[in-house]
Amino acid sequence: MTDSKVRHLVEEAFKAKERAYAPYSNFRVGAALLAEDGSVYTGCNVENASYGATCCAERVAIFSAVADGKRSFKAIAVVSDHEGFTFPCGICRQVMLEFDIPTVIVADSSGAYREYALKDLIPNGFKKSAVREGE
Ligand code: THU
Repeated sequence: MTDSKVRHLVEEAFKAKERAYAPYSNFRVGAALLAEDGSVYTGCNVENASYGATCCAERVAIFSAVADGKRSFKAIAVVSDHEGFTFPCGICRQVMLEFDIPTVIVADSSGAYREYALKDLIPNGFKKSAVREGE
């Protein structure tokens, strides 16, 4: 991805972070997902008094895109209030694997970013092809 495309996605993630509902952790996260057709879906973390009901920013973005009919994606950017890089949790990595999101971008509070291949963040992941082998 070009530097300007990455920066645009990171900017969208920062905007989404502002909408986070995180009264329990006070840790706001924003995500921006680039679909194959160029559209961008954003997400923020949405917490709950029953902590386990919390949904991470990345999954909010992915589920919103899927609910809008998108299934093919190019990249997802993740930012947070933390000054360093924030890496997606294991559950979100698994959801990214389901939809073959090839590239994960993490940006710090200064806007500096790193790009990772999803396969390096979740090596030997459990894929839908394994479940569907019998079909
Ligand atoms: N969180 C995310 O939204 N994405 C991540 O990648 C890591 C964690 C959220 C969940 C919870 O609302 C808060 O950050 C603290 O764990």
